[in-house]
Amino acid sequence: MKRGKIIVVGNEKGGTGKSTLAMHLIVWFLRQKKMVASIDLDGRQGTLTHYIQNRAAYAAVRHVDLGLPEHLCVSVRESPTAAERAEDEQAFTAQLDRLQSENDVVVIDTAGADSHLFRLAHAAADILITPLNDSLIDLDVLAKIEPEKLTVKSPGHYAQTVWQARQKRAAQRKPQTRWFVLRNRVMHVSTRNEKLIWKLLEALGKRINFTPLAGLGERIVFRELFLKGLTLLDVGAGKAGGAMSMTHVAARQELRSILQAIGEDASADDAPKPAK
Ligand SMILES: Nc1ncnc2c1ncn2[C@@H]1O[C@H](COP(=O)(O)OP(=O)(O)OP(=O)(O)O)[C@@H](O)[C@H]1O
Ligand SMILES: [Mg+2]
Repeated sequence: MKRGKIIVVGNEKGGTGKSTLAMHLIVWFLRQKKMVASIDLDGRQGTLTHYIQNRAAYAAVRHVDLGLPEHLCVSVRESPTAAERAEDEQAFTAQLDRLQSENDVVVIDTAGADSHLFRLAHAAADILITPLNDSLIDLDVLAKIEPEKLTVKSPGHYAQTVWQARQKRAAQRKPQTRWFVLRNRVMHVSTRNEKLIWKLLEALGKRINFTPLAGLGERIVFRELFLKGLTLLDVGAGKAGGAMSMTHVAARQELRSILQAIGEDASADDAPKPAK
């Protein structure tokens, strides 16, 4: 029986690029001819679900097969009673078990806020990827920073959530979650602030055990791709993806570095040449 790998994209902060990254991971695995399942744990907002629906609609209009995951959209109950919480957790665990047994990989996109299912998903993660906007405000969920010395004072509340999820996995004798913190929307000019964030992330990564990744630059293409349900990996790949620009090439190189870091062989990703 299959036991698909679980990849969770999570952060206790909204708007950091979780759904965008989740969709890119899904399409990467689909293009590797893997059986892929996806879970939108932010069913109320439903960004990943809409992204996938846009993809299905775009493919149908153009009569092409772009590949789609087996998708599950979950609306997390607010302020559940203890009984409701137990019921939700049982149902989610059963669904996750089934998806894992039928797929090579399960990608879970989470909401930017804590909940009982958010914690369950984190404890299930073989790989956790945390995109972070490149600012000290976003860093706050990961660490409290000492303002004078600009050093890490203590872990932030999301770091504590991940620590608790890891404790739970250890109690279940599961291997430790491999955690990657990815800077997103990095500005193209190197600033003092940017260097400081990188330095803090490196120090924090050593302390609470995650690997910092250089991540993705600030690029408008991500917003444009959403409406068609496409990703950087579809652009220039024939079918319906449209032509490749220099921006796409650069962004795709960044994406490839992320994939390599999490253990994917993306070196053979034959990005088409940009159109002249
Ligand atoms: N590297 C990037 N460059 C430019 N825009 C980006 C980048 N990454 C994400 N965005 C844009 O930022 C917005 C938020 O992204 P996304 O919805 O993926 O974040 P999220 O963390 O899932 O948000 P939420 O917490 O609300 O679910 C979207 O408009 C998306 O297109
Ligand atoms: Mg989202």
